[in-house]
Amino acid sequence: MEIAVVADEQGVGRSAADVLEEALRHGCRRLGLATGSSPLATYAELVRRHREGLSFAEVDAYLLDEYVGLAPGHPESYARVIRRELTDAIDIDPARVHGPDGTARDPREAAAAYESLLGAVGGVDVQLLGIGTNGHIGFNEPGSSLGSRTRVKTLTLQTRLDNARFFASLGKVPVHVITQGLATISSAGHLLLVASGAHKAAAVAAALEGPVTASCPASVLQLHPHVTVVLDEAAARLLTRLDDYRQALLAKPRGWGW
Ligand code: F6R
Repeated sequence: MEIAVVADEQGVGRSAADVLEEALRHGCRRLGLATGSSPLATYAELVRRHREGLSFAEVDAYLLDEYVGLAPGHPESYARVIRRELTDAIDIDPARVHGPDGTARDPREAAAAYESLLGAVGGVDVQLLGIGTNGHIGFNEPGSSLGSRTRVKTLTLQTRLDNARFFASLGKVPVHVITQGLATISSAGHLLLVASGAHKAAAVAAALEGPVTASCPASVLQLHPHVTVVLDEAAARLLTRLDDYRQALLAKPRGWGW
């Protein structure tokens, strides 16, 4: 695991975009996308680089998760959010942007279908991740099995409160979601976690330096052989080995890449 700490959220976006651009230039064709606030600076930077020539024409994109029960086309459905924040502004074919169908009559079937799709393509090359204040990745809430696959989950009150800022009221935040499981996420070739802000510091410290436990789902990253974490100073402030992480990056030979 490599941990890069940069000054602020914009720096997180630039560094994460460096990781993704390098992956694209080295043949990444299946990109896993997160939604929420964490990746917004990264997406803004990717859109800027696209205007300067970075192409996504050969890429298939796969969403991590989706709310269950929002009306088709709801502005906060993750299918719409990803279009608004990224894919409408780059040269990706809209038919190549995939996600779980949160409008399906039986969301459990939709979850199984999405898991099958991911399995059939062999998983994604790089998966971008944010982290919840309770340590979730995707919408794998605390207690989620480290071996879980794509399925329907119930959001915790904490996550619904955290996400209420995107909706008119707490009552409008869906209760259920379809999310890739922790094992599904772990089958990506490379995991890229981004986090900014002091409100993420406790979850980041638990995930990166605490025990591997279902009580902190993001701690499953410790089991993956290829993880890059990009944090701003505020999100990194509770890490105890910050100097080691900085030294490791400074000592890394040029050209070794991410
Ligand atoms: C969203 C997702 C979630 C978010 C997490 C953090 O697709 O997978 O795990 O990354 O809830 O949300 P923000 O970034 O809004 O703080």
